[in-house]
Amino acid sequence: MVVIDEKKCIGCGLCAADCIALNIEVEEKAGVKKECMQCGHCVAVCPKGAVSIPEYDMDDVEEYDADSFTLQPEQVLHSMKFRRSIRDYKQEQVEESVLRQLVQAGRYTATAKNSQSNGFVFVQKELTTLKDKVWQFIDDISKKDIREIDKALLPYIMFNQRRKKDAADDYLFRNAPAVLYIVSDSPLDAGLAAQNMETMAVSLGLGVLYNGYLARISDANEELKQWLGIGDRTIRACMLLGYPARHYVRTAPRKAPDVIWK
Ligand SMILES: Cc1cc2nc3c(=O)[nH]c(=O)nc-3n(C[C@H](O)[C@H](O)[C@H](O)COP(=O)(O)O)c2cc1C
Repeated sequence: MVVIDEKKCIGCGLCAADCIALNIEVEEKAGVKKECMQCGHCVAVCPKGAVSIPEYDMDDVEEYDADSFTLQPEQVLHSMKFRRSIRDYKQEQVEESVLRQLVQAGRYTATAKNSQSNGFVFVQKELTTLKDKVWQFIDDISKKDIREIDKALLPYIMFNQRRKKDAADDYLFRNAPAVLYIVSDSPLDAGLAAQNMETMAVSLGLGVLYNGYLARISDANEELKQWLGIGDRTIRACMLLGYPARHYVRTAPRKAPDVIWK
């Protein structure tokens, strides 16, 4: 529950004005009415640092410093235009400190109703086990009568055949050193986190591949989900991660924008 420190509160009303739940009343001082979704706007907007939410780690809250924030619009657009799906990686491990920065990008992403239901699973040390489990699952599907196999699974059988002929031809894992799964109650929340994590990854020199095929086959594999430690949570996104072995020298062309102006 939101807590307002009466000694610090000056009754300016900024917290009440910015409260989407209309949960704060101000007479002389601000007061909280009930439980809320704990979006933290009241904490972030208070000029006196009078508001806290003890359910969170309040030491994590940072003060805004205009001088340290120098992101320019052209840099933002540049990062979007020059990011590329990376399907070829250097055989270098990704440092844990780097992966932890991706966690921060995911964690601070907006979520509907502030649900914060996204969870992140990084697989690097145990990547060989992950690969074995995924390919074994596909092997087991392949053993079924072809007429019983869901059409959506047929590409996996082809990927598996290709991999068996040439281990380097691995459509699911490429040669990436790490895999990230995002589990969430909401596909959109997970997608937004994935995008923020990719932006962060690129800024750290990493490359990423959103991997829809790997996400779907992993989510269908209950045993794998137990091994990942996510139980029955839904895998909404999956990304290969690593330092890119390919360098792109220009942007990729795109369709003209589909926009309506009224
Ligand atoms: C949700 C999503 C799933 C994707 N799944 C795969 C995949 O399974 N395999 C793959 O090679 N590329 C996958 N991609 C990458 C797209 O093919 C790629 O984004 C698109 O061709 C544009 O290239 P770019 O990312 O370099 O701009 C996926 C992209 C998205 C957004």
